[in-house]
This record gives sequence, C-alpha cells and structure tokens, in this order.
Amino acid sequence: MKRRQFLIGAAAVGLGAWWLKPGDRGAPHNDYFSNLQSTLQSLGAGRPLLIIDRQRLAANCERLIENLPAGKAFRIVAKSLPSLALIREVMALTGSQRLMTFHQPFMNALAAAEPGADLLLGKPMPVAAAAQFYAELEPDNGFDPAAQVQWLIDSLARLEQYLALAQSLQQRFRISIEIDVGLHRGGLRQAEDIDSLLNLIRQHPQHLQLAGLMGYDAHVGKMPGFIESTETSLRKSNAIYQSFVDRIRNQHSDLWRDDLILNGAGSPTIRLHDESSPLNEVSAGSCLVKGTDFDLPLLEDFQPAAFIATPVLKKLDGLTMPGPLPIGSLWQSWDPNRATTLFIYGGKWMAKPESPAGLSENSLYGSSSNQMMLNGSASQQLSVDDWIFLRPTQSEAVLLQFGDLLALDGQRQAQWWPPLDAGHGR
Ligand SMILES: Cc1ncc(COP(=O)(O)O)c(C=O)c1O
Repeated sequence: MKRRQFLIGAAAVGLGAWWLKPGDRGAPHNDYFSNLQSTLQSLGAGRPLLIIDRQRLAANCERLIENLPAGKAFRIVAKSLPSLALIREVMALTGSQRLMTFHQPFMNALAAAEPGADLLLGKPMPVAAAAQFYAELEPDNGFDPAAQVQWLIDSLARLEQYLALAQSLQQRFRISIEIDVGLHRGGLRQAEDIDSLLNLIRQHPQHLQLAGLMGYDAHVGKMPGFIESTETSLRKSNAIYQSFVDRIRNQHSDLWRDDLILNGAGSPTIRLHDESSPLNEVSAGSCLVKGTDFDLPLLEDFQPAAFIATPVLKKLDGLTMPGPLPIGSLWQSWDPNRATTLFIYGGKWMAKPESPAGLSENSLYGSSSNQMMLNGSASQQLSVDDWIFLRPTQSEAVLLQFGDLLALDGQRQAQWWPPLDAGHGR
C-alpha cells in the first residue's frame, strides 16, 4: 500500500514537473526590429545607443492632445524627455510652450534655448539652486524670468528664503504652491496652511506674486482595489485640490486671478482628469516615450518610442556558469531558454530585454554594466555583431546614459540629439 502511494506520488510529481517545464519562448526579431537592426548596421554603429522612434513619438503626442479634456492646458514634463531636441520636437508636436523642470542646469539650458518657454518647477529647489539659475541666466535673450518662471514652494520657511533672494536680486518671483493631494511627498496638507504663505506674498507685491498651485496625484490608481479604488482616490485627491482653490477664492480673493495655473496629474493619471477636474493644466512626459513602467491600461494606446540597442559581443553554446557544479547544464536541460549565452555591450540599465523575444538576464550569474550576460534559446537566431533591443523602464535617467540619442524618422533617417547636460562646477 505504501509502495503504491509512493509510486502515485512520484508519478504526480513527474507529471507536475513536465507540466511546469518551460517551453521555448524565443523568436527572431520581427520586421520592426529587423528594420532597426538594418538601420544600425547601415549607420556603422558599434556602441550601445538610445533610439527615439520619431514616428511613434508623434503618434503618442497626437493621442495625448486629442484626448485632452476641454479647458485643460498641457505641460511637458521635461525631465522625462531630457534632450533639448526631444523637448523641442514635443513642443512642436503638442503646441505647448509650458515645461515642467526639475534640475537647475536643465532649466538654464531651456531658458537659453527656448526664450518663449514657460517654466514651472516640479519640485521645490534649494534656494541656492534658484540663485544659481539667475546667476547663469543669459542676458537679453528675451527670456523674462519674472514672467516665465514659477518657483515651487512647499513651506513658509522656503518662501521666506525665496523672498530674501528676490529682494537681493531686485526681482519679482512667481510662486506656485505645492499641495499634498494624497501622495504625501510633501507640500501643504490643509487648505488653511496656505494662509501664512499668501499673507507673506500679499505683504511683498514687488517681490512675490502668486502664480498657482501644483498637486501631483501619482498615488491615484497605485493601491490595490480592496484598499482604495482609483475612483475613490481620484475623488479624494480632487476634493483636496478644490479645497485649496476655494480657500484662495474665498479667503484671499485679492490674490485670486482666473489665470492662476492649477497644475496636476502625470502620465499615469492624465487620462483620469475630465472636464470636472479642478485642474486647468495637466502634465506628462514619460508616456510619450513609454518606458515599461507606463504599460498601464489607461495608456494602452501609447506606443513605446524609446529603445536601447546594443551589439552582441559574444555568443557561447550552452549556459556557461563558472564553478565545479554542473549548474549550467542542469538549468539548460530544464529550461530551453537558457541554452544560449550571450554577452552584450554594456548592461545593467533600468531596462528590460524586448527583442528578439525570449531573452532574459541571469540573476545567478549577475549583472554587469560592462558586458552583461543574457540567455536565450536557439530560436532568436542571433550571431555576434547582431543587435538586441531593450525597453527602458523609465526615461528620465536612462536617456541620459547613452550620449547623443539616435532619433529615427519614418524613413529611418538619422539625427543625433544630445542629451541635456547635467551640470558643471557647483
Ligand atoms: C510634479 C510632477 N508632475 C508630473 C510628473 C509626471 O511626469 P511623467 O509624466 O513624466 O511621469 C511628475 C513625475 O515625477 C512629477 O514629479
């Protein structure tokens, strides 16, 4: 009886193992990536590159603008598109001159290159960074910071610092106030908290002017539904936003203007704001190039438009793991997707293998930013000097890691777009 039970058990385990054994997930490049590979080969490229597909970028911009609710302006999140040429392309495609910026050197570069741009800070900067912005500002290029910059302020203490700087520069600063609509990343929590800031602004009209509010709602839609639904989070977040708007209108009506900028949203939530939203301006950047973090149901109609391309340096048969144990041969006999070992040029990027299908990193072997191992089956049909493609998980950091971006148009004509320069000296 025991022996019979044992045999049945063993057979069940065997069947389960057979059922679980992975199939071959590999496939060669599809036409899209084969064409990209041919373009890279004809360019004679030989290093990891960040490709921007301009056709897809244009389609994404068109979709975004088409779906913008009536009465909402669009602000481009510059940090997520960190190249002047890329930002200019998006400005032209969306017709927006409004930029959200998060880094002082980028801000100066934008003010110098786009004297018509309107810059809203996406985070409260140390006052030293604001001072540096004015110090580096190009004189007489037409950019007027008193009209075209909105400094983001999250506390009375910071507003006092900015007031002192404005006084010393004999400038007037436009002030946007950061409010916490539920993300809990800082900013004012209660509508009454705005009173002390507005009183200070009121007392210093030569140096401070209220420009608007900024309340980012990235928490909306991030919680499991059983904790809080997207609809509930959005309703609460909009209600908090509205309470600040009402406070200004009702208690500080002298500072209220219909052209105050009521900014909010980002790629994950831009589609949630309809005509009823208290915002009059929504921002987004990431969804226009769509890293994998933005593979969200609400952004389904946006296409990935940024890829890392890198050459295969080495191809080894089998799974080549160091050490005396037969780990590589056992693993590959279990999983056909481990039957080939590739080493690529570079690696360890915030990115996921995209094409050819079925490639994966090997966490046991480890990751390398010099030559990273990927495993696949024979089905990818890759050879040394072929190209593989990865999708960045996000754009703001990854697009800065490759030198000039390779921008390809519909005819696969190449342009080289320098990334923004992250800074020199202090
Ligand atoms: C203040 C603010 N607004 C909007 C965004 C959205 O940017 P994106 O659409 O590029 O994700 C961010 C992203 O960090 C942000 O910090």
